[in-house]
Amino acid sequence: MPDKLVNIAHKDYRTSTTNRLRESINKQNHKQLLRQELIKGLSTQRKYISSKFFYDKYGSELFNWITQLPEYYVTRTEKSILSKYSNELFGQLSHVNIIELGSGDCSKISMVLNAIPTERHGHLRYYPIDVSPSAVNQAKGVLHQHYPNLKTHGIIDDITKLESLPNDHPRIICFFGSTIGNFQPTEAEALLQNLYQIMHPGDQLILGIDLIKDIDTLELAYNDSQRITEAFNKNVLRVCNSILRTQISTGDFEHRAFFNHDKSRIEMHLIASHDVIVNSPHLQHCIEIFRGENIHTENSHKYSLNMIEDLAAKCQLSINRIFYDDKKWFALVQLIK
Ligand code: TRP
Repeated sequence: MPDKLVNIAHKDYRTSTTNRLRESINKQNHKQLLRQELIKGLSTQRKYISSKFFYDKYGSELFNWITQLPEYYVTRTEKSILSKYSNELFGQLSHVNIIELGSGDCSKISMVLNAIPTERHGHLRYYPIDVSPSAVNQAKGVLHQHYPNLKTHGIIDDITKLESLPNDHPRIICFFGSTIGNFQPTEAEALLQNLYQIMHPGDQLILGIDLIKDIDTLELAYNDSQRITEAFNKNVLRVCNSILRTQISTGDFEHRAFFNHDKSRIEMHLIASHDVIVNSPHLQHCIEIFRGENIHTENSHKYSLNMIEDLAAKCQLSINRIFYDDKKWFALVQLIK
């Protein structure tokens, strides 16, 4: 074998070993960061677990189930707006990049794509952005089956930290599901301000936001009779067990979800039904959670029209139009730079 080839083969081998090593170190670092984050939240006086720990495989399945519950009006209502107005919003699109923040189960983006004639699909590019590679890959697979002419490029990234967007065409950024409501108001502002920075004039942001409504409807949506939301909330404890090698029993906690009027948000908590001691090989000392003490797991902020206008103004985005459902329970806001 000529020397040159041997060298190349050798170099390739070394590169791929280095890459694998680097990947494995990154994974270890990532795991370490997740552990530290969990320990920090459980060690403070007002205990919390970040809602990103909801979404392991089982958690994602439970969430999918939630979206179909009769009490959980959010998904159904947003889809009713999409089905009524998607022709108006998306029907004329051609040669655009459709960017979806958080790729979800593809049912909403499919409504967007169905509004665009098939012969134009070859001119579109769809970019789902999600931290979870499996979510992005699943979206790619599903969409390729249904829309063979559509070019899909998954992006694995944290939507709060985007530094740029694919810029070969004008961009339509879709941020559905009232996920913006799961951020604190200041974080939501920061997220939209960042989007404003990386948007070009003429780009659009289509933002789904859940609205303030009567408390019973709000609270029932997060306290369904089949107790799927309860199972979803308690699943964070299992995720915590697998990351920290703790043995917290889901039976030791109760699910509580209520509307906090002052903060205009549904809060989800797990309340200890008796004293719980948490031990982990990753902890120097055990953590005690006393009976009645709560772990805050999620917020879902509900907006009024004023709050939406305020948010848009703070991010310098202009509201072009707002689309509502019949009951005005949900808003699809079209924002432009
Ligand atoms: N953004 C949606 C909402 O707040 C979906 C969601 C996020 C959710 N976390 C949740 C729904 C926890 C139920 C429970 O409603």
